[in-house]
Amino acid sequence: MNILVLGSGGREHAIAWALRKSPKTDVLYVAPGNGGTAEIAENVDIDIADSEALLSFVAERMIGLVVIGPEAPLVDGVADVLRAAGVPVFGPNADGAQLEGSKAYSKEFMEANSIPTAAYGRFSDEESALAYVREQGAPIVIKADGLAAGKGVVVAETLEDAEAAVHACFDGAFGDAGSTVVIEECMTGPECSLLCFVTNGKSFPMAPAQDHKRAYDGDLGPNTGGMGVYSPVPIVTDDEMASMVSIMEDAAAATARAPFTADYRGTLYGGFMLTPEGPKIVEFNVRFGDPETQVVLPRLENDLVDVMLAVAEGRADDIDLKWSDDWAVSVVLASDGYPGSYEKGKVILGIEEAEELPGVTVFHAGTKRNFDGELITNGGRVLNVVALGDTFEEARERAYEACDLINFEGKQLRHDIGKKALQGRAAWE
Ligand code: AMP
Ligand code: GLY
Repeated sequence: MNILVLGSGGREHAIAWALRKSPKTDVLYVAPGNGGTAEIAENVDIDIADSEALLSFVAERMIGLVVIGPEAPLVDGVADVLRAAGVPVFGPNADGAQLEGSKAYSKEFMEANSIPTAAYGRFSDEESALAYVREQGAPIVIKADGLAAGKGVVVAETLEDAEAAVHACFDGAFGDAGSTVVIEECMTGPECSLLCFVTNGKSFPMAPAQDHKRAYDGDLGPNTGGMGVYSPVPIVTDDEMASMVSIMEDAAAATARAPFTADYRGTLYGGFMLTPEGPKIVEFNVRFGDPETQVVLPRLENDLVDVMLAVAEGRADDIDLKWSDDWAVSVVLASDGYPGSYEKGKVILGIEEAEELPGVTVFHAGTKRNFDGELITNGGRVLNVVALGDTFEEARERAYEACDLINFEGKQLRHDIGKKALQGRAAWE
């Protein structure tokens, strides 16, 4: 079968890598892809927001499955257009994508379905938002309603910061995304991601993973798209895991009935906070996590083509996931300056040597080939160095050994991925 993956990050390289392993995959395309996907698939230069261009490509190349990586095309209804033309698509329709596309929609969905989450208020004028903030006091969380590329959330420690964040939203800092504002109670506890395959109202949990959002060691510095991740998550108790699985089942079931009916066939990502009252949802995403995917898919023992086709075709009864007992740790190699401004075009060396280490795979995030065929940096997050091991420590050591072998000018990384988890739950107190 010919398969088309949409996207260009480390997540899409990991998805393409897992699909490539399947004997069922014939020609694999990634649009637009990156330097890593080019090695295992054919990169194609199509605008992934352009449904018409996608439709003609799919017909011309006889594509039997389209996998949509990022949220923006899902929110824009690319899955709807392809599905209406009879193409099997992995990814929810636009209604389902509202769970990520609108924080207000997502909060209403949770409230109506008794899904544990932070208490909140929703406002479309600045004055009532400010009044609510003053009444609740700090710390408090201010969120622009729409997609703001991960930048629309402020965890305000002081009333002053909270008021400034409300003002920034209504002042157009996030464009239309900020014309409605969601204000939430500030929850506490470690965060944990649980991604699930969802089809026909049924949820199939993947392995849990824990991301590291801050740029620098010790959870310091600005928020990023994620600097490292591991799976499974040793600090999660069995009770917490059971509760997260059950919350995701409730959420999946709710996508299959009124008033939130959606054609949900894809990944539903539960971003949890393990609060003293139990796991609560911080946010839903309607796609695979980046970088969570890079540690979750290497642990999946099923053929990903089988699983994704069953999801795309609504065949929930055909899904039975199997996970390896391996531990997976991934460290992000970023460009100096990320998440602020950074330079591109630095030559990357040492990936082959790194991949010779046992259990090591390097997924590319922001890379490309220059005219001389050299691999160069092309983004803030450049590479995801992933290592599997029999123990957490082994996976961690291998990942860092591999990171040492890879070099490019301005290589930036965190040296403490997984360190807190090794110290146990007390490290979060
Ligand atoms: P989001 O874009 O909704 O995932 O928020 C980004 C980050 O802000 C999350 O990963 C949390 O670390 C933090 N955050 C969001 N909402 C809350 C909340 N209600 N309480 C505490 N932290 C939050
Ligand atoms: N790792 C966070 C995300 O994918 O949104």
